[in-house]
Amino acid sequence: MKKSTGDFSSIIEDITNNSKFNKLKRELHHGITRYDHSYRVAKWTYNICDLFNMKNTESITRAALLHDFYVDSDLSDYNSYEKLGEHPNMALTNSLKYFELDNIQQDIIKKHMFPRTTELPKYKESWLVSGVDKVVSTYEMLRFKTSLYAGIYLLFIFEVIRLPR
Ligand SMILES: [Fe+2]
Ligand SMILES: [Fe+2]
Repeated sequence: MKKSTGDFSSIIEDITNNSKFNKLKRELHHGITRYDHSYRVAKWTYNICDLFNMKNTESITRAALLHDFYVDSDLSDYNSYEKLGEHPNMALTNSLKYFELDNIQQDIIKKHMFPRTTELPKYKESWLVSGVDKVVSTYEMLRFKTSLYAGIYLLFIFEVIRLPR
């Protein structure tokens, strides 16, 4: 039997009620918040799992939501480039502090930045979330940059910004 969309909320409810996880609402990520990015990755993952009637939809969806569970201050010792490789470990540490995770969920979070991190994802579920994260990130970056450039263009069109003659 197919799951209804309503199930998504109940699968992730305890995570979205977690106070540390709610701090992601104040973290900037691809021009939106890290909370919204994580939510989108989880929702798209859920929809794909649901489409293919996967048996572990719930656990994959939860791991997808937790894949970027960190705040910038957790990684204050690292520069931007290093953060790309380090944040999966921090997300896993934070996730294990508050939630129980099986091996597949831990692999999903730890390997989602492959190939930036060199360890190969071990499970098909890890490949799935890593792929969804890349598609979602590209979509969010393009949307952010398009609206940014469109906004600047409109400021010129309406002569809010005037170049010197
Ligand atoms: Fe990430
Ligand atoms: Fe992500």
